[in-house]
Amino acid sequence: MSSDRGLVTIRKALLSDFDKIVEVEASSFKRPYPPALLFSLLHLHSDMFYVALASGEIVGYAVGAKRCDSGGHVISIAVRPEWRRKGIGTKLMEALLDTFKKRGLKRAVLEVAVSNREAIAFYERLGFKTIALLKSYYPWGEDAYLMAKEL
Ligand SMILES: CC(C)(COP(=O)(O)OP(=O)(O)OC[C@H]1O[C@@H](n2cnc3c(N)ncnc32)[C@H](O)[C@@H]1OP(=O)(O)O)[C@@H](O)C(=O)NCCC(=O)NCCS
Repeated sequence: MSSDRGLVTIRKALLSDFDKIVEVEASSFKRPYPPALLFSLLHLHSDMFYVALASGEIVGYAVGAKRCDSGGHVISIAVRPEWRRKGIGTKLMEALLDTFKKRGLKRAVLEVAVSNREAIAFYERLGFKTIALLKSYYPWGEDAYLMAKEL
């Protein structure tokens, strides 16, 4: 699937996008996923891995996976800082949630660090609700909210 909206294009990720995805990750997180993990996700979940292009450059990505309970898991999403608040994250999530629905998945779930207020506001705007607190979810000891949205 590929969709053009204004200057931003959302399309499935290609293996050749890997280096740019690593750059987006590094620019977006204090503790980025290791490149090897992103590489595995690109291989294992390429059917649910989207990138956003603006002015021909990859400026964001979102990746998900099917869970064994008929839900879809939003594994990660990021938009380069200078491209935020332009609706790109929303477009990436729409592409991913649309794919979940087409696969017959009934619910999307994700984890977000309790300190990540920007992402929590973003997910709430998309209709996600906090359903649980996951104590010490992250390796550095921080708690996470488990959020979910019915599809
Ligand atoms: C979360 C993230 C992907 C959002 O991407 P984005 O392209 O800026 O999101 P959008 O422009 O589509 O935002 C849609 C809405 O979400 C909310 N939102 C997004 N960022 C927000 C912020 N920093 N503060 C408050 N609300 C915010 C707003 O309601 C926004 O609509 P508005 O701009 O009209 O007010 C981006 O901030 C990011 O990459 N963060 C770092 C990585 C990260 O934390 N990922 C999530 C890990 S769980």
